[in-house]
Amino acid sequence: MHSGSKPRLSPRRRAPEPPRLPTGAHSSPRRDGNSDLLCRRVADGARDAGHTVLFRRLADTPVAPCTGCQACAGGTGRCPIRDGAPEILREMLSADTVILGSPVYFYSVCAQLKALIDRSTMVYPRLTGKRFGYVLTMADEDPSGFDGPLTALNGFRICCEDSETVGTVCAPGVFEAGAVRGTPAWDEAYAFGRSL
Ligand SMILES: Cc1cc2nc3c(=O)[nH]c(=O)nc-3n(C[C@H](O)[C@H](O)[C@H](O)COP(=O)(O)O)c2cc1C
Repeated sequence: MHSGSKPRLSPRRRAPEPPRLPTGAHSSPRRDGNSDLLCRRVADGARDAGHTVLFRRLADTPVAPCTGCQACAGGTGRCPIRDGAPEILREMLSADTVILGSPVYFYSVCAQLKALIDRSTMVYPRLTGKRFGYVLTMADEDPSGFDGPLTALNGFRICCEDSETVGTVCAPGVFEAGAVRGTPAWDEAYAFGRSL
């Protein structure tokens, strides 16, 4: 370096990245129900693996159904419905992994989760590069009962560019709240959380 040279400027510091966390949302209206317990098992595994997990019970934060007004997609660019959806969607945007849990309700996900998925119309083009995991419970023993909900969840996932499904935990044959404890899915859920 010659003596007259200007000191080199250090590169401009970037604002810190938002936290890249697993975030979980279970959607059953039944507190301490099977999908609630199973999602919390995934969260326990993720915490034991060193993650800080944002966990949310969708039934505690009412989300109204999308009305299809298209204001978010064109027009104002904003959803005119004032409720908890933007806050939950912001959490999903800040996470690298999103775990969605639901009981099977008439061969689909329950209404609380479907409403959130539909309301994601306002942000899903920015929900890119996410890792998704699914947790499903149902009374039926026949695993084909999961086909409908998995089609719905995967249909949402493929709309989120560069996303991938990193795991699915399904518990068939559980009806009463708590019946999921001790089933194979109980251990699978914990192992899945650990793997995140
Ligand atoms: C409205 C409603 C619809 C349901 N539909 C189905 C169904 O289509 N197939 C099934 O196997 N179980 C069905 N069930 C049973 C639940 O999926 C099962 O009890 C599940 O474990 C509940 O999860 P949760 O404890 O997280 O609420 C239904 C339950 C309710 C309340």
